Amino acid sequence: MTSPKVVAITGGAGQIGYSILPRIAAGEVFGPDTPVILKLLEIPVALEALEGVGMELEDCAFPLLKEIVCTDDPEVAFKDCDLIYLIGSKPRGPGMERNDLIRENGPIFTGQGAAIDKVAKKTVKTLVVGNPCNTNCLIAMNHAPSIPDENFSAMTQLDHNRAIAQLAVRAGTHFNEVKNPIIWGNHSNTQFPDWTHASIQGEPAAAKIGDEAWFKEVFIPTVQERGKAIIQARGKSSALSAANAAIDHAHYLFNGTPEGTWTSMAVKSDGSYGVPEGLICSFPVTCKGDGSWEIVQGLEFSEFGREKFDISIQELEKEREAVKDLL
Ligand code: NAD
Ligand code: LMR
Repeated sequence: MTSPKVVAITGGAGQIGYSILPRIAAGEVFGPDTPVILKLLEIPVALEALEGVGMELEDCAFPLLKEIVCTDDPEVAFKDCDLIYLIGSKPRGPGMERNDLIRENGPIFTGQGAAIDKVAKKTVKTLVVGNPCNTNCLIAMNHAPSIPDENFSAMTQLDHNRAIAQLAVRAGTHFNEVKNPIIWGNHSNTQFPDWTHASIQGEPAAAKIGDEAWFKEVFIPTVQERGKAIIQARGKSSALSAANAAIDHAHYLFNGTPEGTWTSMAVKSDGSYGVPEGLICSFPVTCKGDGSWEIVQGLEFSEFGREKFDISIQELEKEREAVKDLL
């Protein structure tokens, strides 16, 4: 057994919290030899519900779960953390886009970023899930100047997994046989889900499916609008699949991406692929397993793909402008 990892989850009493907590406690992020301490943050009105979640976690008697802390104080939650999931924030409802939440949710990430700066380990990795997650990540990162910017990322793993699923279903094969789609841009309906570098059963996805119109007219909008479709069907935003993606994202950071593959994460742009420096933008990344990531370089775009990606970059710039007083 190694020493315990300290993991904070904000919005611990929410939908995603309920799906993700048992999986972290069961060792799905750090593996079967690493105990975990869970620190759950909520707003005061949800503390009683949070205590209930804490009781249920206790009742699971997970062998790896060393301690559960329930609190409404971000400095208590984030103290000495190795990993922080910033989930707690309002989800959108029917008829809304994710960036309609920007002025309501954005301010949450100023204080939480500052608390991370003050009390977390300087090596802490922070993963932003709360929407609009790219721009909320930008806000949190800006309020934590003593933590390297590379330690912040926002979640497009769910979109990446959705792309894998759509390709597998269309090709009539298993999810495992699909590698290397890419989500470029924003976790919004402007994102560009890119199939042109993906493979299915080892063959280029474009050739395997052989139907360009399907990629452009079905695959792209289905992945872009999947969150909305789930809200329409369930009356609530995705939670089980969001929690699953948040496990995958952290698992890749701490265990590495498998040889020959990449995943998609929204990380601070260094200017790669013409994305303005500093924007939190989704790119294909590889991870070594030490918490770091690298943007995959040298991939080519068709004219169609470049246009799509540029639309999403422009949206990210607009979002940054809309919260400039929070940065
Ligand atoms: P939810 O309403 O079920 O839960 C959110 C929880 O956060 C609530 O319990 C609430 O009390 C808590 N909360 C609110 N403000 C807080 C704060 N300042 N500090 C701590 N906790 C706070 O919502 P959910 O379904 O769990 O979704 C949470 C967020 O994740 C939403 O913004 C949603 O849009 C987003 N989301 C993102 C992705 C993604 O792929 N990036 C996927 C799904 C959902
Ligand atoms: C999703 O992609 O499912 C989440 O971002 C929730 C939403 O608002 O669509």
